[in-house]
Amino acid sequence: MVTEQAASAPIVVASNRGPVSYRVREDGSLAAGRGGGGLVSGLSAIGPESGAVWVCAAMSEGDRLAAEGSGGRLDTADTGGHRVRMLDIAPDTFAAAYNGIANSVLWFVHHLLYQTPLEPVFDESFRAQWAAYEAYNAAFAEALAEEAAEGAAVLVQDYHLTLVPGLLRELRPDLRIGHFSHTPWAPPDYYRLLPDDVARQVLRGILGGDRAAFLTRRWAQAFADCCEQVLGAQTERENGITTVVRFEGRTTRLGVHGLGADGDFLRERAHRADVEERMAALRARIGGRKTIVRVDRTELSKNIVRGLHAYRRLLVERPEWRGQVVHIAFAYPSRQDLTVYRDYTATVERVAREINAEFGDASWQPVDLHVKDDFARSLAAYRMADVALVNPIRDGMNLVAKEVPVVSDAGCALVLSREAGAAAELAEDALLVNPYDVEATARALHRALLMDPSERAERCKRLAAAATALPPARWFMDQLTALQGM
Ligand code: G6P
Repeated sequence: MVTEQAASAPIVVASNRGPVSYRVREDGSLAAGRGGGGLVSGLSAIGPESGAVWVCAAMSEGDRLAAEGSGGRLDTADTGGHRVRMLDIAPDTFAAAYNGIANSVLWFVHHLLYQTPLEPVFDESFRAQWAAYEAYNAAFAEALAEEAAEGAAVLVQDYHLTLVPGLLRELRPDLRIGHFSHTPWAPPDYYRLLPDDVARQVLRGILGGDRAAFLTRRWAQAFADCCEQVLGAQTERENGITTVVRFEGRTTRLGVHGLGADGDFLRERAHRADVEERMAALRARIGGRKTIVRVDRTELSKNIVRGLHAYRRLLVERPEWRGQVVHIAFAYPSRQDLTVYRDYTATVERVAREINAEFGDASWQPVDLHVKDDFARSLAAYRMADVALVNPIRDGMNLVAKEVPVVSDAGCALVLSREAGAAAELAEDALLVNPYDVEATARALHRALLMDPSERAERCKRLAAAATALPPARWFMDQLTALQGM
């Protein structure tokens, strides 16, 4: 439904998950919950007075009820004043596009998660899901075309919406369109697992935009390599770095914007009373022992199970740590509609239980695992961390690696996967590991625990400075001005 507000926004943001989500209370009323994350804080840099509109998908029953009857325009009381349009896409179409293609295919490809030779299989059910993904992308493109003012800047986010730039370009050639990938990008040999037409359609879709931006140079280069090898596109380099892709008469500039932590927000938030309370509770359980902290969504790419195995190896190889250290592991539920994620969650819980049964006693439980999301408790653990363990198989950036050093009280050591985007910026002061190498990760944990407190504090200070180099507000503005200046 087009209302009088339509076609008026000078800036439009599009992402699958919006800045607010709704839950149906027992009495049938709706409770709005504000989302976190870089995009939400980034958008606050321009404020509601900018007239920006954020287009997102309804993801739950509560969302659908909230979107009903208002052309999807949410009450600004729920959105921090921002104009948000929530698309009520048919539940089956949404599920096939989000769970099927976005989270089980594109996410898997970019994070190298397939368990070949059994997966992937691209058959008729994949084709049905792909048709849903096309319809879901088309619904976004149509809504964006309705919202955007003449010549507006449209910032399209992530792997859910790869076809949108191309579709929107056809509807509205006047717009400046950028796409931002929050994930890694697969190298061509792996990307080619996708059916040829789909592999081409995704690249073509993103190249419909004026800019294609990434979290690190490495992912931007992998995208350019795929464009060259899969599409036969032309690329141009400046100082050895690919900056432009040309295909079918269009030019797309590549950008790199390494999203950083929001230092001011985190430092203030981490000293509120609820965090202090959680710290006291954690301290009561852990006593004066050292802490190895990890906080993740329970996500296959986060490599939580190998992290637990590495901790187990530490306790085997270095028995002197038994009773002296606790591994605080917060693994919050994610994408639980997918069987592999539910299974993975069960494995994480089982391995943690096994370690506790093998080494623990009445006075010491080596793993303190929690699966219920609690941001204040995460911050409490960040502040108390002696060591932070961030060991993803592959990660677009990983903000936990950037957040822990910022709020750590005494300075923590960071054991970091070399495959996380954050490693590009934090390599000098983190202890880098190959995420598959459990033995090397165990050795890095040992080294981190032994690190002299003054060295740890020094390194942590430099990590925090690097981590906050591009806070969300500037990250957002950099992309916007680059797009508007084209
Ligand atoms: C990653 C993606 C985001 C996504 C988030 C949470 O960070 O890049 O686009 O929103 O995971 O995943 P979810 O499926 O819960 O939105």
